Amino acid sequence: MYDNIYSEDVGSFFRSPVREIFKKVDLNAIYSFAGGYPSPDTFPLEEIKRTMAEVIDKYGSKAFQYGATQGVPELREAVAKRCGVPVERVQITSSSQQGIDVCTRVLVDPGDVILTSSPSYLGALQSFRSYRADIRGVKHSPDIEAFKQAYEGVIAQAHAEGKKIKFLYMIPDFQNPSGESLTLAEREMLVALAQKHDFLIVEDSPYRELRYEGEHIPTMYSLDPDRVIHLGSFSKIFAPGFRLGWAIAHPDILDKIYVCKQSLDLCPPIFDQYVAAEFLSSGRLDANLEKSIALYKDKRDHLLNLLAQHMPEGIRWTHPEGGLFLFLTMPEGFEAVKFYDKALDAGVAYVAGEFFHPDGSGKNTMRMNFSFMTKERMTEGVKLLASLLSSRA
Ligand SMILES: Cc1ncc(COP(=O)(O)O)c(C=O)c1O
Repeated sequence: MYDNIYSEDVGSFFRSPVREIFKKVDLNAIYSFAGGYPSPDTFPLEEIKRTMAEVIDKYGSKAFQYGATQGVPELREAVAKRCGVPVERVQITSSSQQGIDVCTRVLVDPGDVILTSSPSYLGALQSFRSYRADIRGVKHSPDIEAFKQAYEGVIAQAHAEGKKIKFLYMIPDFQNPSGESLTLAEREMLVALAQKHDFLIVEDSPYRELRYEGEHIPTMYSLDPDRVIHLGSFSKIFAPGFRLGWAIAHPDILDKIYVCKQSLDLCPPIFDQYVAAEFLSSGRLDANLEKSIALYKDKRDHLLNLLAQHMPEGIRWTHPEGGLFLFLTMPEGFEAVKFYDKALDAGVAYVAGEFFHPDGSGKNTMRMNFSFMTKERMTEGVKLLASLLSSRA
Protein backbone atom coordinates (compact mmCIF):
# COMPACT_ATOMS: atom_id res chain seq x y z
CA MET A 1 0.00 0.00 0.00
CA TYR A 2 2.86 2.39 0.75
CA ASP A 3 5.35 1.12 -1.82
CA ASN A 4 4.94 4.01 -4.24
CA ILE A 5 5.43 6.64 -1.62
CA TYR A 6 8.83 5.90 -0.08
CA SER A 7 11.91 7.91 -1.09
CA GLU A 8 14.50 6.31 -3.37
CA ASP A 9 16.90 6.18 -0.43
CA VAL A 10 14.63 3.71 1.37
CA GLY A 11 15.37 1.12 -1.31
CA SER A 12 19.02 1.24 -0.21
CA PHE A 13 18.32 0.68 3.49
CA PHE A 14 19.29 -2.73 4.75
CA ARG A 15 18.61 -4.33 8.08
CA SER A 16 21.50 -5.11 10.38
CA PRO A 17 21.77 -8.90 10.62
CA VAL A 18 23.20 -8.37 14.10
CA ARG A 19 20.08 -6.56 15.27
CA GLU A 20 17.89 -9.21 13.60
CA ILE A 21 19.64 -11.79 15.79
CA PHE A 22 18.84 -9.72 18.87
CA LYS A 23 15.18 -9.64 17.88
CA LYS A 24 15.02 -13.41 17.43
CA VAL A 25 16.62 -14.54 20.68
CA ASP A 26 17.04 -13.54 24.28
CA LEU A 27 20.77 -12.83 24.50
CA ASN A 28 20.92 -14.10 28.06
CA ALA A 29 19.32 -17.41 27.12
CA ILE A 30 22.02 -18.38 24.60
CA TYR A 31 25.80 -18.20 24.43
CA SER A 32 26.11 -15.01 22.41
CA PHE A 33 29.38 -14.02 20.80
CA ALA A 34 27.29 -11.96 18.38
CA GLY A 35 26.74 -8.41 19.67
CA GLY A 36 29.25 -5.68 20.39
CA TYR A 37 27.79 -4.96 23.81
CA PRO A 38 30.18 -3.80 26.52
CA SER A 39 30.12 -5.87 29.70
CA PRO A 40 27.36 -4.63 32.03
CA ASP A 41 29.96 -5.05 34.80
CA THR A 42 31.81 -2.02 33.41
CA PHE A 43 28.90 0.37 34.08
CA PRO A 44 29.66 2.11 37.40
CA LEU A 45 26.03 2.38 38.51
CA GLU A 46 26.59 3.87 41.95
CA GLU A 47 28.99 6.51 40.62
CA ILE A 48 26.65 7.33 37.74
CA LYS A 49 23.84 7.79 40.26
CA ARG A 50 26.00 10.10 42.37
CA THR A 51 27.17 12.07 39.32
CA MET A 52 23.59 12.49 38.07
CA ALA A 53 22.57 13.95 41.42
CA GLU A 54 25.61 16.26 41.36
CA VAL A 55 24.69 17.45 37.86
CA ILE A 56 21.13 18.30 38.96
CA ASP A 57 22.48 20.18 42.01
CA LYS A 58 25.02 22.05 39.91
CA TYR A 59 23.02 22.91 36.79
CA GLY A 60 19.37 22.68 37.93
CA SER A 61 16.82 23.00 35.14
CA LYS A 62 19.57 23.98 32.65
CA ALA A 63 20.49 20.29 32.55
CA PHE A 64 17.12 19.55 30.94
CA GLN A 65 16.88 22.49 28.56
CA TYR A 66 17.82 22.56 24.84
CA GLY A 67 21.51 23.28 24.40
CA ALA A 68 24.10 24.33 21.82
CA THR A 69 24.20 22.22 18.66
CA GLN A 70 27.99 21.83 19.00
CA GLY A 71 27.56 20.35 22.47
CA VAL A 72 27.84 21.88 25.94
CA PRO A 73 31.10 23.82 26.44
CA GLU A 74 32.03 21.71 29.50
CA LEU A 75 32.07 18.50 27.46
CA ARG A 76 33.66 20.01 24.36
CA GLU A 77 36.46 21.38 26.51
CA ALA A 78 36.96 18.08 28.35
CA VAL A 79 37.12 16.18 25.03
CA ALA A 80 39.47 18.78 23.50
CA LYS A 81 41.81 18.42 26.47
CA ARG A 82 41.71 14.61 26.38
CA CYS A 83 42.45 14.53 22.64
CA GLY A 84 44.94 17.43 22.65
CA VAL A 85 43.06 19.52 20.06
CA PRO A 86 41.61 23.07 20.07
CA VAL A 87 38.01 23.23 21.27
CA GLU A 88 36.94 24.84 17.95
CA ARG A 89 37.66 21.47 16.37
CA VAL A 90 35.31 19.51 18.61
CA GLN A 91 31.67 18.72 17.81
CA ILE A 92 29.76 16.51 20.25
CA THR A 93 27.69 13.89 18.44
CA SER A 94 24.82 11.69 19.53
CA SER A 95 27.29 8.77 19.40
CA SER A 96 29.82 7.85 16.77
CA GLN A 97 27.18 6.16 14.62
CA GLN A 98 25.76 9.64 14.13
CA GLY A 99 29.28 10.90 13.43
CA ILE A 100 29.57 8.40 10.57
CA ASP A 101 26.15 9.28 9.27
CA VAL A 102 26.63 13.06 9.28
CA CYS A 103 30.03 12.75 7.59
CA THR A 104 28.40 10.72 4.83
CA ARG A 105 25.46 13.06 4.54
CA VAL A 106 27.73 16.10 4.33
CA LEU A 107 30.25 14.60 1.90
CA VAL A 108 28.59 12.03 -0.33
CA ASP A 109 26.23 12.23 -3.31
CA PRO A 110 24.62 9.08 -4.74
CA GLY A 111 27.22 7.19 -6.76
CA ASP A 112 30.26 8.75 -5.05
CA VAL A 113 32.91 6.29 -3.98
CA ILE A 114 33.75 5.55 -0.35
CA LEU A 115 36.85 3.44 0.13
CA THR A 116 37.08 1.18 3.13
CA SER A 117 38.72 -1.93 4.47
CA SER A 118 37.19 -5.28 3.68
CA PRO A 119 35.88 -6.31 6.19
CA SER A 120 34.53 -3.09 7.69
CA TYR A 121 32.03 -1.97 10.34
CA LEU A 122 28.49 -3.00 9.45
CA GLY A 123 26.81 0.13 10.86
CA ALA A 124 29.02 2.30 8.63
CA LEU A 125 28.19 0.19 5.56
CA GLN A 126 24.49 0.60 6.39
CA SER A 127 24.88 4.36 6.57
CA PHE A 128 26.94 4.54 3.33
CA ARG A 129 24.37 2.43 1.49
CA SER A 130 21.48 4.54 2.74
CA TYR A 131 23.07 7.53 0.94
CA ARG A 132 23.56 5.33 -2.15
CA ALA A 133 27.33 5.55 -1.98
CA ASP A 134 29.45 3.24 -4.10
CA ILE A 135 31.47 1.31 -1.49
CA ARG A 136 34.80 -0.19 -2.56
CA GLY A 137 36.48 -2.47 -0.06
CA VAL A 138 40.18 -3.30 0.01
CA LYS A 139 41.56 -6.38 1.73
CA HIS A 140 44.48 -5.98 4.10
CA SER A 141 47.87 -7.30 3.07
CA PRO A 142 50.75 -7.70 5.54
CA ASP A 143 53.12 -6.54 2.76
CA ILE A 144 52.73 -2.76 2.82
CA GLU A 145 53.73 -2.31 -0.84
CA ALA A 146 51.10 -4.86 -1.92
CA PHE A 147 48.60 -3.16 0.41
CA LYS A 148 49.34 0.21 -1.20
CA GLN A 149 49.06 -1.24 -4.69
CA ALA A 150 45.69 -2.77 -3.82
CA TYR A 151 44.43 0.71 -2.90
CA GLU A 152 46.05 2.30 -5.96
CA GLY A 153 44.30 -0.30 -8.12
CA VAL A 154 40.87 0.42 -6.65
CA ILE A 155 41.44 4.19 -6.90
CA ALA A 156 42.57 3.93 -10.54
CA GLN A 157 39.53 1.80 -11.38
CA ALA A 158 37.15 4.32 -9.76
CA HIS A 159 38.80 7.20 -11.63
CA ALA A 160 38.64 5.25 -14.92
CA GLU A 161 34.88 4.93 -14.36
CA GLY A 162 34.67 8.70 -13.89
CA LYS A 163 33.78 8.34 -10.22
CA LYS A 164 34.62 10.78 -7.47
CA ILE A 165 36.25 9.33 -4.37
CA LYS A 166 35.02 11.27 -1.35
CA PHE A 167 36.65 9.55 1.60
CA LEU A 168 38.38 6.54 3.01
CA TYR A 169 36.62 5.11 6.08
CA MET A 170 39.00 3.38 8.46
CA ILE A 171 38.95 1.95 11.99
CA PRO A 172 42.70 1.93 12.63
CA ASP A 173 42.55 0.66 16.23
CA PHE A 174 41.21 -2.83 17.04
CA GLN A 175 38.91 -2.85 14.10
CA ASN A 176 35.34 -4.06 14.15
CA PRO A 177 35.11 -6.89 13.05
CA SER A 178 38.70 -8.14 12.76
CA GLY A 179 40.17 -6.79 16.00
CA GLU A 180 43.32 -5.83 14.10
CA SER A 181 45.09 -2.45 14.03
CA LEU A 182 46.94 -0.56 11.32
CA THR A 183 50.67 -0.05 11.88
CA LEU A 184 52.07 3.49 11.85
CA ALA A 185 53.61 2.84 8.42
CA GLU A 186 50.20 1.74 7.08
CA ARG A 187 48.53 4.86 8.53
CA GLU A 188 51.18 7.04 6.92
CA MET A 189 50.81 5.27 3.60
CA LEU A 190 47.01 5.76 3.59
CA VAL A 191 47.27 9.43 4.57
CA ALA A 192 49.81 9.93 1.75
CA LEU A 193 47.38 8.27 -0.69
CA ALA A 194 44.59 10.59 0.46
CA GLN A 195 46.88 13.59 -0.11
CA LYS A 196 47.98 12.32 -3.51
CA HIS A 197 44.46 11.61 -4.78
CA ASP A 198 42.76 14.39 -2.82
CA PHE A 199 40.14 12.61 -0.75
CA LEU A 200 39.37 12.82 2.97
CA ILE A 201 39.74 10.16 5.64
CA VAL A 202 37.10 9.37 8.25
CA GLU A 203 38.93 7.75 11.14
CA ASP A 204 36.49 5.91 13.41
CA SER A 205 38.10 5.16 16.77
CA PRO A 206 35.59 3.92 19.35
CA TYR A 207 37.95 1.23 20.66
CA ARG A 208 41.19 3.24 20.68
CA GLU A 209 41.40 3.52 24.46
CA LEU A 210 40.72 -0.18 25.03
CA ARG A 211 44.33 -1.34 24.59
CA TYR A 212 45.42 -4.45 26.51
CA GLU A 213 49.00 -4.73 25.29
CA GLY A 214 51.52 -2.96 23.04
CA GLU A 215 52.14 0.74 22.47
CA HIS A 216 49.60 3.34 21.39
CA ILE A 217 49.97 4.20 17.69
CA PRO A 218 49.43 7.83 16.55
CA THR A 219 45.99 8.57 15.14
CA MET A 220 45.61 9.21 11.41
CA TYR A 221 44.22 12.59 12.44
CA SER A 222 47.56 13.53 14.00
CA LEU A 223 49.25 12.79 10.64
CA ASP A 224 47.09 15.30 8.73
CA PRO A 225 44.57 17.19 10.91
CA ASP A 226 43.06 19.05 7.94
CA ARG A 227 42.36 15.93 5.88
CA VAL A 228 41.20 13.51 8.56
CA ILE A 229 37.91 13.58 10.47
CA HIS A 230 38.40 11.75 13.73
CA LEU A 231 35.37 10.14 15.42
CA GLY A 232 35.33 9.10 19.06
CA SER A 233 32.71 7.59 21.34
CA PHE A 234 31.80 7.28 25.01
CA SER A 235 30.01 4.00 24.28
CA LYS A 236 32.90 1.64 24.94
CA ILE A 237 34.78 3.70 27.55
CA PHE A 238 31.76 4.76 29.61
CA ALA A 239 28.30 3.46 28.63
CA PRO A 240 26.54 3.21 25.25
CA GLY A 241 23.19 4.18 26.78
CA PHE A 242 24.31 7.80 26.97
CA ARG A 243 24.62 7.88 23.15
CA LEU A 244 27.49 10.35 23.14
CA GLY A 245 30.53 10.72 20.94
CA TRP A 246 32.59 13.39 19.26
CA ALA A 247 33.90 14.46 15.86
CA ILE A 248 37.22 16.28 15.53
CA ALA A 249 37.86 18.04 12.24
CA HIS A 250 38.82 21.23 10.44
CA PRO A 251 36.37 24.01 11.50
CA ASP A 252 35.05 24.38 7.91
CA ILE A 253 33.96 20.75 7.85
CA LEU A 254 32.60 20.99 11.40
CA ASP A 255 30.50 23.95 10.33
CA LYS A 256 28.75 21.79 7.73
CA ILE A 257 28.27 19.01 10.28
CA TYR A 258 26.89 21.60 12.69
CA VAL A 259 24.24 22.76 10.23
CA CYS A 260 23.44 19.16 9.32
CA LYS A 261 22.96 18.29 12.98
CA GLN A 262 20.52 21.17 13.41
CA SER A 263 18.09 19.34 11.16
CA LEU A 264 18.89 15.97 12.69
CA ASP A 265 18.53 16.41 16.42
CA LEU A 266 19.02 20.14 17.23
CA CYS A 267 21.54 19.27 19.92
CA PRO A 268 23.07 16.22 21.61
CA PRO A 269 21.36 15.14 24.88
CA ILE A 270 22.13 17.84 27.46
CA PHE A 271 21.81 15.91 30.71
CA ASP A 272 23.97 13.07 29.37
CA GLN A 273 26.61 15.56 28.27
CA TYR A 274 26.85 17.16 31.70
CA VAL A 275 27.12 13.72 33.32
CA ALA A 276 29.86 12.69 30.87
CA ALA A 277 31.69 16.01 31.41
CA GLU A 278 31.61 15.54 35.20
CA PHE A 279 32.73 11.95 34.86
CA LEU A 280 35.62 12.96 32.64
CA SER A 281 36.88 15.98 34.54
CA SER A 282 36.57 14.33 37.98
CA GLY A 283 38.83 11.45 36.86
CA ARG A 284 36.03 8.92 37.48
CA LEU A 285 35.97 7.94 33.83
CA ASP A 286 39.67 7.08 33.78
CA ALA A 287 39.48 5.16 37.06
CA ASN A 288 36.58 3.12 35.69
CA LEU A 289 38.27 2.67 32.31
CA GLU A 290 41.31 1.19 34.00
CA LYS A 291 39.07 -1.47 35.59
CA SER A 292 37.30 -2.12 32.27
CA ILE A 293 40.63 -2.62 30.51
CA ALA A 294 41.74 -5.18 33.12
CA LEU A 295 38.40 -7.01 32.81
CA TYR A 296 38.48 -7.09 28.99
CA LYS A 297 42.12 -8.15 28.83
CA ASP A 298 41.26 -11.10 31.05
CA LYS A 299 38.28 -11.97 28.86
CA ARG A 300 40.28 -11.68 25.66
CA ASP A 301 42.99 -13.95 27.07
CA HIS A 302 40.32 -16.40 28.17
CA LEU A 303 38.74 -16.56 24.72
CA LEU A 304 42.13 -16.95 23.02
CA ASN A 305 42.97 -19.84 25.37
CA LEU A 306 39.60 -21.48 24.81
CA LEU A 307 39.96 -21.29 21.03
CA ALA A 308 43.47 -22.77 21.19
CA GLN A 309 42.18 -25.59 23.39
CA HIS A 310 38.93 -26.50 21.68
CA MET A 311 38.78 -25.41 18.04
CA PRO A 312 39.27 -28.12 15.41
CA GLU A 313 42.24 -28.03 13.01
CA GLY A 314 42.16 -25.69 10.03
CA ILE A 315 40.59 -22.67 11.75
CA ARG A 316 42.59 -19.43 12.20
CA TRP A 317 41.79 -16.38 14.30
CA THR A 318 43.17 -12.91 14.95
CA HIS A 319 44.98 -11.92 18.18
CA PRO A 320 43.70 -8.41 18.90
CA GLU A 321 45.75 -6.15 21.17
CA GLY A 322 42.57 -4.39 22.28
CA GLY A 323 38.91 -3.79 21.45
CA LEU A 324 36.03 -6.20 21.81
CA PHE A 325 36.27 -8.66 18.90
CA LEU A 326 38.29 -11.29 17.18
CA PHE A 327 37.74 -12.79 13.76
CA LEU A 328 37.81 -16.44 12.73
CA THR A 329 38.64 -17.81 9.30
CA MET A 330 37.35 -21.32 8.56
CA PRO A 331 38.55 -23.60 5.80
CA GLU A 332 37.52 -22.65 2.24
CA GLY A 333 34.02 -23.83 1.42
CA PHE A 334 32.65 -23.24 4.94
CA GLU A 335 29.60 -20.97 4.89
CA ALA A 336 29.10 -19.13 8.16
CA VAL A 337 25.65 -17.85 7.18
CA LYS A 338 24.37 -21.37 6.42
CA PHE A 339 25.90 -22.79 9.58
CA TYR A 340 24.36 -20.06 11.66
CA ASP A 341 20.85 -21.52 12.13
CA LYS A 342 22.30 -24.80 13.31
CA ALA A 343 24.48 -22.95 15.83
CA LEU A 344 21.56 -20.83 17.03
CA ASP A 345 19.29 -23.88 17.43
CA ALA A 346 22.00 -25.42 19.57
CA GLY A 347 22.23 -22.21 21.63
CA VAL A 348 25.31 -20.33 20.40
CA ALA A 349 25.47 -17.15 18.27
CA TYR A 350 28.15 -15.34 16.26
CA VAL A 351 28.01 -12.89 13.35
CA ALA A 352 28.82 -14.27 9.91
CA GLY A 353 31.78 -12.38 8.43
CA GLU A 354 30.33 -11.88 4.97
CA PHE A 355 28.03 -9.13 6.30
CA PHE A 356 31.12 -7.01 6.97
CA HIS A 357 32.51 -7.43 3.45
CA PRO A 358 31.18 -4.78 1.04
CA ASP A 359 31.41 -7.27 -1.86
CA GLY A 360 29.83 -10.17 0.05
CA SER A 361 33.07 -12.17 0.21
CA GLY A 362 34.43 -13.64 3.46
CA LYS A 363 31.80 -16.40 3.52
CA ASN A 364 34.10 -18.61 5.60
CA THR A 365 34.64 -16.01 8.35
CA MET A 366 32.89 -15.11 11.59
CA ARG A 367 33.18 -12.42 14.26
CA MET A 368 33.27 -13.28 17.93
CA ASN A 369 32.79 -10.76 20.73
CA PHE A 370 34.51 -11.31 24.07
CA SER A 371 33.21 -8.40 26.18
CA PHE A 372 29.62 -9.33 26.90
CA MET A 373 29.51 -12.84 28.35
CA THR A 374 31.02 -13.98 31.63
CA LYS A 375 34.10 -16.19 31.37
CA GLU A 376 32.07 -19.19 32.52
CA ARG A 377 29.53 -18.69 29.77
CA MET A 378 32.28 -18.10 27.21
CA THR A 379 33.77 -21.47 28.17
CA GLU A 380 30.47 -23.26 27.61
CA GLY A 381 29.85 -21.31 24.40
CA VAL A 382 33.22 -22.10 22.84
CA LYS A 383 32.95 -25.79 23.75
CA LEU A 384 29.52 -25.92 22.12
CA LEU A 385 30.60 -24.05 18.98
CA ALA A 386 33.78 -26.13 18.67
CA SER A 387 31.85 -29.38 18.96
CA LEU A 388 29.36 -28.26 16.30
CA LEU A 389 32.23 -27.29 13.99
CA SER A 390 34.04 -30.59 14.65
CA SER A 391 30.97 -32.69 13.95
CA ARG A 392 30.54 -30.83 10.67
CA ALA A 393 34.11 -31.61 9.57
C1 LIG B 1 33.64 0.78 14.49
C2 LIG B 1 32.41 1.29 15.16
N1 LIG B 1 32.03 2.55 14.93
C3 LIG B 1 30.94 3.07 15.51
C4 LIG B 1 30.16 2.31 16.36
C5 LIG B 1 28.93 2.94 16.95
O1 LIG B 1 29.12 3.24 18.29
P1 LIG B 1 28.29 4.34 19.04
O2 LIG B 1 27.29 4.87 18.09
O3 LIG B 1 27.66 3.64 20.20
O4 LIG B 1 29.27 5.36 19.45
C6 LIG B 1 30.51 0.99 16.63
C7 LIG B 1 29.67 0.18 17.52
O5 LIG B 1 29.82 -0.98 17.72
C8 LIG B 1 31.67 0.46 16.01
O6 LIG B 1 32.06 -0.79 16.21
